[in-house]
Order: sequence, then structure tokens, then C-alpha cells
Amino acid sequence: MKTVSVIGMGYIGLPTATLLASKGYQVAGMDVNPKVVDIINQGKIHIVEPDLDVAVHKAVESGKLKAFTSPQKADIFILAVPTPFLADKKPDMTYVRKAAESICTVLEAGNLVILESTSPIGATRVDVAEIIYAKRPELVGKLHIAHCPERVLPGQILRELVENDRVVGGVDEASTKTAADFYRTFVKGEVLETTSDTAEMAKLTENAFRDVNIAFANELSLICDKLGINVWELIRLANRHPRVNILQPGPGVGGHCIAVDPWFIVAAAPEEAKLIRTAREVNDGKPHWVVDKVMEAASKSATKPVIGLLGMAYKPDVDDLRESPSVEIAHALKRATNAEIIVCEPYVDAMNGFKLATLDETLAQANILVMLTDHKPFKDITLGQLAGKQIIDTRGTFERVMG
Ligand SMILES: NC(=O)c1ccc[n+]([C@@H]2O[C@H](COP(=O)([O-])OP(=O)(O)OC[C@H]3O[C@@H](n4cnc5c(N)ncnc54)[C@H](O)[C@@H]3O)[C@@H](O)[C@H]2O)c1
Repeated sequence: MKTVSVIGMGYIGLPTATLLASKGYQVAGMDVNPKVVDIINQGKIHIVEPDLDVAVHKAVESGKLKAFTSPQKADIFILAVPTPFLADKKPDMTYVRKAAESICTVLEAGNLVILESTSPIGATRVDVAEIIYAKRPELVGKLHIAHCPERVLPGQILRELVENDRVVGGVDEASTKTAADFYRTFVKGEVLETTSDTAEMAKLTENAFRDVNIAFANELSLICDKLGINVWELIRLANRHPRVNILQPGPGVGGHCIAVDPWFIVAAAPEEAKLIRTAREVNDGKPHWVVDKVMEAASKSATKPVIGLLGMAYKPDVDDLRESPSVEIAHALKRATNAEIIVCEPYVDAMNGFKLATLDETLAQANILVMLTDHKPFKDITLGQLAGKQIIDTRGTFERVMG
């Protein structure tokens, strides 16, 4: 199996396609967005990820990676399209279903189809296999179909694609084995075999575990604020217990993984998933709490309040604003107050509804400073630069300078 077609050339699809091209596969990247396809075929990238620009340039120049707006024939198909949730928090499988449908025109007996998108339990069987076999009944029993969830960390994707252990689950044993053998050609971590349902649940469980633990830290931050206790010091002290490891609070939980995936478990088992649902609600409630704190500071301001918001990405040192609690906070404040709001996000050029300011401009103008995403450049802010400002530090970034 030497040719691979990657469907969806975003944060997961593009690095995966590029890595496979570097390992000798002939890769066709497919995306419904023609702009994305154009950029990739110029050897450039449309997302921010360290070292990816050089790798894509090399892969395109070598002829091993080419992007298309329509699916191409291949031995292996990898679906890496979005899996958001709907207004009722149920999974939206339209992208996966459309991607599965779109490859039906080029699929051939013996092909391997892998769903990499984070998916609800049963999706590989229902939203991929059933969709394909309904359109191409003559292929029943002649394809290998599997799920292999992606668990890379943005900012470290190229390294983690190779080094992380992978969980691979097929709709049948032959599919599991074929898909696992494919991953073993480029993954240095261990490739662990299971069923497609368990592989889907494994990914959702990993993110629900993170969410529940972050919710614990976020809840502590509210309790400590009420009781006048410094939560950062508290967590530092509690973590000196040899079997305690509390995570850090923040302005909420963002991104399209941890803030989304636990809902897929809740949707599948609403009666049983009580803790998982509550954790989601605690984390989703944190941005409102931050907005209330900023409004309280604004009401106390001796001069006209100017609110400086530091960091809009959902986590440090990435350009990804999707599902970011910081963005939610910025918009909620804009609705709630006439005070001037200055937004500083060094990793993006523009943000809907706001004019972005540099860090120097924000520090010079704001009298209420809200630390939301602790990007590296913000860690160098000095005590002198904070003087005279009301500070709302959702990340504990200023602990270092303020003590
Ligand atoms: N980004 C991450 O860090 C990360 C980590 C683990 C898992 N995931 C999961 O991987 C999946 C993909 O996420 P992403 O971050 O790469 O998304 P993304 O939005 O960056 O990219 C998805 C791409 O798919 C394209 N697309 C949509 N429908 C298509 C179709 N029918 N055919 C072809 N292309 C189509 C879009 O134009 C877009 O370019 C999601 O399920 C996500 O939850 C993401």
C-alpha cells in the first residue's frame, strides 16, 4: 500500500499528509476549501504549527504531496474532517458523512479507510462503513475500515505524530490488523489494537479525564476567591502531597477537543455521565465568572475604565481561537459594557469584532488588565508595567512578579 488520500487538510490532515509524504508515501490531500488546496500546492501552509512550513514545502517540492478539491484514488484513505457538536450538544457528523460519501466514487476493493476525526461511539460503523456500503454495496466485505483517534498536541504535532502511542480499532479483526500495520510503518510509539467502538471511546475518555481535572481546579479557583485564599499558592502546597497532582485553573476550557468531546459521552449515556456533564458545566461557567470580575473592577475604577485583554487563543502559543473562552469573554464584555476594550493576541492578525493591539499599546492604555492566555511574550511583563492597574489574572501568570 503506497498511496494515501487524506480527506480534510486542517490541523490534523495537513501534518499527517506531510509526514506520510516524508516517509515515502504518494499522498493526495483533499479539501473542500479551494484556498487551502491552492496554498498547499504552492508549498505553503494556512495554519500555524512549528516546522510544518518547511516540511510541507519539502513534500510538495518532492512531488510526494499534492492537494486536490476532489477525492483521488488511493490504497489508504484517512478522514480528518471536523466533528463539532450541534446546538443541543449532540455530535454533528455531517462532515464525516459527507467525507465518507465523497470517497465512494474512487474506492476500490482492498482499500483501507481510516477515520481519524474524534468521533462518538459507533461512528466508524454507522457514519463511515454504513454510508460507504449503502453507496457501494458491491464492496461489502472487501474494504478495511478502522478508527484511529488523533491525540497530538498543537505546537508539537510533527513530533507527536511519530512518537505517541496510537489506539487502532477496526470494524472487524482484519481491519484492525491492516490499519495497525499501516500505522506501524511511521509511528515509533506503540500501536495498540482494539475495536472501533473502544477506540472511539478511548479518545473521548482521554479528553473527559482532562476536562474533569481542569474543572476541579476551576472550581477551586472560585472557592478560593470567595474565601480570600490564593488558589495558586494553595495548589502549589497541595501538590506537595506525593499522590496529589492538581491542574491549574484558567478562564475556562477551549479548543475543539476538551470542550467538545466529553459531550459525546454525555449524549451516549446521559443518565450515567453525571460527573462528566457537571465538569463541562463548571468549565463552561468560568468565562461568565471572569466577566463578572472584570465588570466589578470596571465599576470600582477611579478613572474611565480601559480593559486590556491579554491572549485570545484557547491555549498558550498557538493561533487557534476556536471555542476559546478568551474570545467568549471578549464578546461578552463588549455586550456588557461601554468601556473601551483592548485586545492583544500576538499570534493572529485579525479577530472578528475587535481591532487588535500590540502588547506595548495594551500595557500603555489599559487600567484593568485581564490575563487570559499565558502566551510566552506575556511572561516577560514586569511589575513596573503592572503598576497602577487592576489585575485579573486567570492563569496565575503574574504570581511570579506579584508574589
Ligand atoms: N486540531 C487538533 O489538535 C486535534 C487533535 C486531536 C483530534 N482532532 C480531531 O481531528 C478532526 C479534524 O480536526 P482539525 O483540527 O484538523 O480540523 P480543521 O478544521 O483544522 O480541518 C478540517 C478540514 O477539513 C475540511 N473539510 C471539511 N469537510 C470536508 C469534506 N467533506 N471533504 C474534505 N475536506 C473537508 C475543512 O475545509 C478543513 O480544512 C476533528 O475531529 C478533531 O476533533 C483535532
